[in-house]
Amino acid sequence: MKLENPHTGTALSLDEWWMPFTANRHFKAAPRLLAKADGMYYWTPDGREILDGTAGLWCVNAGHNRKPIVDAVQRQAATMDYAPPFNVGHPVAFEAATAVAAVAPAGMQRVFFANSGSEAADTAMKMAIAYHRARGEPARRIIIGRERGYHGVNVGGTMAGGIPGNRKAYGALMAGVDHLRSTHDLARNAYSKGQPAHGAEFADELERIIALHDASNIAAVIVEPMAGSAGVLVPPKGYLEKLRAICDKHGVLLIFDEVITGFGRLGAAFAATRFNIKPDIITCAKAINNAAVPMGAVIARNEIHDTIVNAAPEGAIEFLHGYTYSGHPLACAAAVATQKLLAEEKLFERAREMEPHFEAALHSLRGERNVIDIRNIGLVGGIELEPRPGAPARRALDAHIKCFEAGVLVRFTADIIALSPPLIIERAQIERIVETVRTVLKTLE
Ligand SMILES: Cc1ncc(COP(=O)(O)O)c(C=O)c1O
Repeated sequence: MKLENPHTGTALSLDEWWMPFTANRHFKAAPRLLAKADGMYYWTPDGREILDGTAGLWCVNAGHNRKPIVDAVQRQAATMDYAPPFNVGHPVAFEAATAVAAVAPAGMQRVFFANSGSEAADTAMKMAIAYHRARGEPARRIIIGRERGYHGVNVGGTMAGGIPGNRKAYGALMAGVDHLRSTHDLARNAYSKGQPAHGAEFADELERIIALHDASNIAAVIVEPMAGSAGVLVPPKGYLEKLRAICDKHGVLLIFDEVITGFGRLGAAFAATRFNIKPDIITCAKAINNAAVPMGAVIARNEIHDTIVNAAPEGAIEFLHGYTYSGHPLACAAAVATQKLLAEEKLFERAREMEPHFEAALHSLRGERNVIDIRNIGLVGGIELEPRPGAPARRALDAHIKCFEAGVLVRFTADIIALSPPLIIERAQIERIVETVRTVLKTLE
């Protein structure tokens, strides 16, 4: 394949871009490029159609290049490219915060903008610590994450996260973190549909961890209500309720990292909505503005905002935190248009309606070669494969490549194939994704 930008004809060199979370040498030996997108599809530079089974990277929930979002970004770029967010405001950032607050759980209507899920996670942890300090408990600084949790790649997120490979090169970047065990329990919960039946008791471990450090030193627990990046781990029935109750008992804040689950992935605005559990802080990104422009956000309980803000002297900056691009006009314009589109097309409800069909199609892969588990909720699913002896993650990588060659984009993490299509997906497209995966599994070593 001749490598060039199909829009300009410029020849491409692959050497200079050091790609993130990519096997660079392997990829550059046989690159897979995407050059155009629309609705449910991507196209490669040579014009091959690829059905998007992953909403990009769990983020393009309304489908690609949606006109209202494209128009809003173009309009904003032509009106005001940038405005500083420190001590100066601009209308569209307030509008975006209002639009996000409108779908957030009741009592959580304060929105702090960042530019990614990673920044949102680190912001949330700092906010939790600042909150306790403002309340007169400055010793509460320990953050408790969970094994197999993913909270991005900044210092806080790397340390609160629980994916060993992401942590091992860095040692203790941040003091004062501990981890709950993962809720993944293949022995008892394999082939669960929706929330698994077993494992609420894994939350009890939080009591032990709190006792070890003493509640007076603990700021927050941060978990993904459904762990996405580590392989679609749906919370067992009763687990999140227990976490909430234990946090309440000890005055510990509960942070839900909803970077993947926010804005419809589980068939509701947030996982918090779907599971009817109220966290103290929600982090989000990705689908907040359909990934059209980088954006993350932290949604706090009003009382957390008020406590921090009211503890500072009049005229002083209350929360000494923020980014040059917090509330970037283009990202905010995309967010306002996205939230409108999600509501107009009732895409959260649509995801919920499509869930039984998606579930049935996915579970029809049970019994295919090397499949050891299938799990799903909303429009997200995981197909776990038996790893090849001595070569973990290679079988799923091969599946990803073969699906791409067959015109379907799937994601993989370790030996788990993850599916999270745009919420506009049609039944026939679900069929096509699942049948492509089936064909690939049949031929895969
Ligand atoms: C739960 C969760 N938190 C944080 C992040 C990091 O987001 P970003 O890659 O935008 O920094 C991700 C990314 O997938 C995520 O899934």
